[in-house]
Amino acid sequence: MSSFRTLDDLGDVTGKVALVRVDLNLPMKDGSATDVTRVEAVKPTILELANKGAKVLLLAHFGRPKGQRYSTMSTSFVQGDVEEVLGKEIMFIPEVMGPVVEQSIDILSAGDIGLLDNVRFWPGEEANDREFAKGMAAHGDFYVNDAFSAAHRAHASTEGLAHHLPAYAGRAMEAELKALEAALGSPEQPVAAVVGGAKVSTKLDVLENLVGKVQHLIIGGGMANTFLAARGVDVGKSLCEHDLTDTANRIMDQADHAGCTVHLPYDVVVAKEFAANPPSMRVCNVHEVASDEMILDVGPQAVEALGDVLKTCSTLVWNGPMGAFETEPFDAATVALAKTAAALTQDGSLTSVAGGGDTVAALAHAGVKDDFTFVSTAGGAFLEWMEGKALPGVAALTA
Ligand code: 3PG
Repeated sequence: MSSFRTLDDLGDVTGKVALVRVDLNLPMKDGSATDVTRVEAVKPTILELANKGAKVLLLAHFGRPKGQRYSTMSTSFVQGDVEEVLGKEIMFIPEVMGPVVEQSIDILSAGDIGLLDNVRFWPGEEANDREFAKGMAAHGDFYVNDAFSAAHRAHASTEGLAHHLPAYAGRAMEAELKALEAALGSPEQPVAAVVGGAKVSTKLDVLENLVGKVQHLIIGGGMANTFLAARGVDVGKSLCEHDLTDTANRIMDQADHAGCTVHLPYDVVVAKEFAANPPSMRVCNVHEVASDEMILDVGPQAVEALGDVLKTCSTLVWNGPMGAFETEPFDAATVALAKTAAALTQDGSLTSVAGGGDTVAALAHAGVKDDFTFVSTAGGAFLEWMEGKALPGVAALTA
């Protein structure tokens, strides 16, 4: 990984205007955020800059307004959450450039924080329009990107701004990049990857990239069914992408050539209906799934064997649950394997990095979110990184 500048490289910032890209795309219910992890992640950067006397202007998107102003997608909706996490009042500024921003900057004192409105209200954002980026840059003295979770977007606020102002990685971005480098950039080997989730089709590029990089690829969730079917296993009524069995075989061949062991479950938890604790639930060998049964979790013997695999590894990268973890007891494999990984991490024998959509929820459910080496706040960006793609927001910082 090329190097990037961090807040340590900043000189005196007193009275200077910091344009700080953060990800405030928070999950909402009834008008308030249900999870403020992303705000907590950027808190150190914001407070560090404010404490050093900068005027901090927060730049963020919220939802996908596609270049139009919708009052329901204003970042003002998350102002209260941000203030609560920061423990400080902030000023909401209903623009991202122009006289209103200029006047607001004049009103702000050194160490104050302003929150600009949803940058995606302007079409220039997603088009990564040069003039739009220049217009925003005109208000700042330097740019800090602390939004790894939006770094897969080549937008004006995530990529363009880095070409118009001195650019720095914020503390959250710095931590993400260091953790990801330790997990797949130059990891301590052997490396295991856990890839779960419903569908192979959404993670084809991830799997193809990983087989060349890791020694153990542990496949769980509905995805495992497609791989089992490709190996000739009758998976009954299970969620399975039968049209992708050739692809699954190709990935297994690639893994063979690369010296990567693909681990599929050999015992599974099945049921005739998908519901909590269904009476038809049983554990069986993968070769004994009846035509009216569906696989809903990895079985206990396989989980134990997978735990033993993790014990031989130095690095783990985890994306996706092992079973239908939101419905009990099909969370058992995810919880058990996550606990093993967490214990190995706490013992110091494993560097564990997890991220992407359901993964954080699954680890939180297992009660081990804080016991992994690093849990990314990113969804799509984490997946694109696992696919081996260069992320434009990161590339612009490391250019
Ligand atoms: C996310 O929520 O994953 C990021 O904020 C990116 O949002 P987007 O998928 O709308 O670009």
